[in-house]
Amino acid sequence: MKTTISLSSPAQLETESLVAIVLDYSDPLQAAKNKDAKPQLRVESSDAAVQSAAAELLASGELTGKPFEINLLHKPAGLKAKRILLLSGGNAKKFASYDLRRLAGAAVRSLKSRGIRSFAFIAPSAIPADEAVRAIVEGALVGNFDADYYRSDRKDQKIDALTILTSGNTDKAALEKAAAEAQIIGESQNFTRDLVNEPSNRMTPTILGERARKMCAEVGLKCEVYGADKIKELKMGAFWSVAQGSDEPPALIIMRYEPAGAPEKPVLGLVGKGITFDTGGISIKPADGMEKMKYDMAGGATMIGAMRAIALLKPKVKVIGIVCATENMPSGKAQKPGDVQIAMSGKSIEIINTDAEGRLVLADGLHYAKQLGATHLVDAATLTGAVVVALGYTNAGLFANDDAMYERFSKALNKAGEKMWRMPLDDEYKENIKSSIADIVNSGGRWGGAINAAMFLKEFAEDTPWIHLDIAGTAWMEDQKPWIAKGPSGIALRSLVEFVKSFVA
Ligand code: BES
Ligand code: MN
Ligand code: ZN
Repeated sequence: MKTTISLSSPAQLETESLVAIVLDYSDPLQAAKNKDAKPQLRVESSDAAVQSAAAELLASGELTGKPFEINLLHKPAGLKAKRILLLSGGNAKKFASYDLRRLAGAAVRSLKSRGIRSFAFIAPSAIPADEAVRAIVEGALVGNFDADYYRSDRKDQKIDALTILTSGNTDKAALEKAAAEAQIIGESQNFTRDLVNEPSNRMTPTILGERARKMCAEVGLKCEVYGADKIKELKMGAFWSVAQGSDEPPALIIMRYEPAGAPEKPVLGLVGKGITFDTGGISIKPADGMEKMKYDMAGGATMIGAMRAIALLKPKVKVIGIVCATENMPSGKAQKPGDVQIAMSGKSIEIINTDAEGRLVLADGLHYAKQLGATHLVDAATLTGAVVVALGYTNAGLFANDDAMYERFSKALNKAGEKMWRMPLDDEYKENIKSSIADIVNSGGRWGGAINAAMFLKEFAEDTPWIHLDIAGTAWMEDQKPWIAKGPSGIALRSLVEFVKSFVA
């Protein structure tokens, strides 16, 4: 998708479709009290011709003004555009770039389903222009993705060209820079979604390693991909305990971004869970829904996509990306409940449930990242069903052993327009992962399951400032939404990139 910034007047622009946002200026409290209250709708453009093209529809009383309400007018009088799409954004008081991002995705999905391939979006002046441009470009790219690669009846409908119309006294060069950066981020998010979408027979650990290697070569990152021998040589007993059960060789993927002129410290370590299929192992999962466990490598794919974005954006800060990729299979070679494994850090782990495999591979991934010099750690993993029970599909679970890290990440979340919720890591929970024969168990049971998993990881982050993102409920869209297709979401990538950028002085 090609993106252009234009300062021309919306009325004069020849385009397949203009897109303008409609906001409701009524008092939300009054509206809540009085169910007959009419929305007070205004179209977000200072252009008189756009205003008058929309006037009749807005006055008709047909619109609710609720988010994602869509109306398409053909041959709008006074405009050179062939169409104008009026997209409701809800109440003006609550409207933010988070909403704008989703509206841009909804515009893309609505227009491309009609076979339209290019359009022009009028940036609402309520949001600072550079922020608006970022949100529109990122949202449009997210909306442009469909996971229909394997369907013979797919229509390959895509938006090829997006024009963003901004008005006022704006610095065009700065907006073009914002658009270019947003494009890198959106494309990297879609790159991640492509990896996550692949089924396990087409996305083995080896293939994931090859895809990472290819990406790294394209963007100029150092990349190493190791197999079973190196994993054993490094004494990654926790990682290997999962990998040993599969006929498919594991892959330890290391991507390094070391820009010239970056300070020695910090070194950010991004560690991803790359289980290309999670059967549960000997503690096997029920058949119902097991097909979804192909997306158990989403955390790893997120780190690969994040490294791509970072390499292209070139912030002056060192970053190491590590993905621990393997299948989790039952077999004659698989580990069994009761087994004791020694992690790379030397900690002994009693395996209670072989289905708690993500924390095992991450334990060694986190330790290795520190050994390679990481001063700050972030991991992302589809780690627990329990986080879905706690937070549903809306917020990812966020855990931090350091408040400053949390504050920093929280700002990145805001900028990126992603939702995550901090969960506790009190010492009391440590009780849940005590073992009678080893240092810790790998499963603390059902209650507080997402926290128990995080407590386990904390044992391996130790004193290093660390954030853990449990994306089990958010990495896969169970249903399509107006702004995004059903399937892989690419959650966390944008926040990770903003987080990395925040370390640049
Ligand atoms: N990959 C799963 C978690 C998961 C669940 C991801 C639903 C996406 C959607 C993870 O490896 C797992 O099996 N966790 C167990 C842990 C338990 C055995 C302690 C779980 O959540 O049931
Ligand atoms: Mn599992
Ligand atoms: Zn898993």
